[in-house]
Amino acid sequence: MRAAGKKRGRRTAPATISARLSDHVMLEAHADGKIAACFEGFSIGLGTISAGAAERAQDLHTGLPLASFTSSRRSADKEIDLLVRRLARHGLLEYCVARNDEDLAVIEPQVADYWPRPARLGNADVVVLSRFAYLRRRGSDMVLESPRAGALFRICDPKIATAIAMLATPQRINQLRRQDGFPGDEFLGLLLDCHILFKSAPGDSGLRSSEGGDSLVLWDFHDLLFHARSTAGRHANPMGGVYPHADVMPPLPAVRPPWPGKKIDLAKFSAAHSQDLSPFAKLLRARHSTRSFDGQRPITLAELARFLDAGARVLSRWTRRADVGEDGPLVEYAVRPYPSAGANYGLELYLAVDKCDGLARGFYHYDAGGHALVPIDVHAQELEAMLTGGALAMAAPAAPQVLITIAARFGRVSWKYASIAYSLVLKDLGVVMQTLYLAATDMGLGGCAIGIANIDLFAKMTGIDFHVEGPVGQFALGRGVRSVGSG
Ligand SMILES: Cc1cc2nc3c(=O)[nH]c(=O)nc-3n(C[C@H](O)[C@H](O)[C@H](O)COP(=O)(O)O)c2cc1C
Repeated sequence: MRAAGKKRGRRTAPATISARLSDHVMLEAHADGKIAACFEGFSIGLGTISAGAAERAQDLHTGLPLASFTSSRRSADKEIDLLVRRLARHGLLEYCVARNDEDLAVIEPQVADYWPRPARLGNADVVVLSRFAYLRRRGSDMVLESPRAGALFRICDPKIATAIAMLATPQRINQLRRQDGFPGDEFLGLLLDCHILFKSAPGDSGLRSSEGGDSLVLWDFHDLLFHARSTAGRHANPMGGVYPHADVMPPLPAVRPPWPGKKIDLAKFSAAHSQDLSPFAKLLRARHSTRSFDGQRPITLAELARFLDAGARVLSRWTRRADVGEDGPLVEYAVRPYPSAGANYGLELYLAVDKCDGLARGFYHYDAGGHALVPIDVHAQELEAMLTGGALAMAAPAAPQVLITIAARFGRVSWKYASIAYSLVLKDLGVVMQTLYLAATDMGLGGCAIGIANIDLFAKMTGIDFHVEGPVGQFALGRGVRSVGSG
């Protein structure tokens, strides 16, 4: 039998958090003091380091406790700290949370600046699981993740899953500490730091309205997850055209094999010659993607103004009561030149301008209501990173003259639509992309849709949380390079 009072006094031994090189990364120290991280045929220089520190750095292959170097004044520790933070910035580290030499979980960073910072927990704090958090099987691992989290947690100890299940309802820390299988303050603090748990007020049920601000309340679980995982910046999964199934199966045919049965031939109703096509059909056929732009002949501000006027400007406004009974709230509408689900028009254009005659290089918001460009002060490196990202996405030799980021004000759509809000945002995006293509083609300009955008970079540039307003796609614009034989 357990002695009376023993359980109350029991304390869980503190967990250790160690930095460890990701599986595929090797550290190479050279005789001249230079040290580099090598993986998959790449090598990243990490500066120079003393021989002693280089030897200790090899412990990063198995795990080096953060507490052994982070707050020390010794110069050898400072060297290690600098090296570890450089590795972290390149996304080459994971962090092992262990107690009594047993791994509890391994943390895999998902955002570029993740660093494990356990939030402090007091006896009276009440914590509850975020409604965006989920446990799933990934290969042979069980992972705990959330689109709000800067990292995912590979669960090594099954008891953690039990503790997580308990946190579906709010729990006081002092009561949790008495439970068998309590994962420890550090582990819960790490989950709190990643918004996988959040603190709720005593007596609060910890439901949808308690988590985050108004903008988070408007998100459905699957929509926020889809947004964070189908864009760049907030996950570490393979992304883009990497042909993940090329060695498993052949590609599907470009045109669906026809259904069996008698065909009704439509060709006889179509124009026999291209000169007989309507102006609209000609515009559609002239549209194509342009990825290389003429650095000697940038787009002009007047052209940019006409392009935005044709494709994106607010044309009319009206107000209508929401269809939720007689005294439903009034909703404003602002119609633009393209269709939009429920006339929500929740997409905004932000312009990263590299070269435009008459407009300074910089970052701008297009005020579609006022038909004006409003400069936004951003760091030069961030503007550069955005333009370079656009060039990379198009495999283009240089940045586009103007890179338009199409950003969604998500709450505008999800305030009305349940379950389908994010899908409507993406459908609206397709409509906007085609509109911009046609506006550019009509003006003799070149453009190219870009399906990828970095939501973390945009959040840093604008200071707006990724779940409030953020990129869903981009469009490169400029004067295309004249092809051989063109006028
Ligand atoms: C949603 C969408 C995303 C696209 N993303 C990219 C992209 O990231 N990089 C790129 O070079 N082209 C991109 N494109 C352009 C397509 O590659 C192009 O439309 C297609 O190859 C057909 O060529 P065309 O536009 O010249 O007719 C995208 C097009 C769409 C509609």
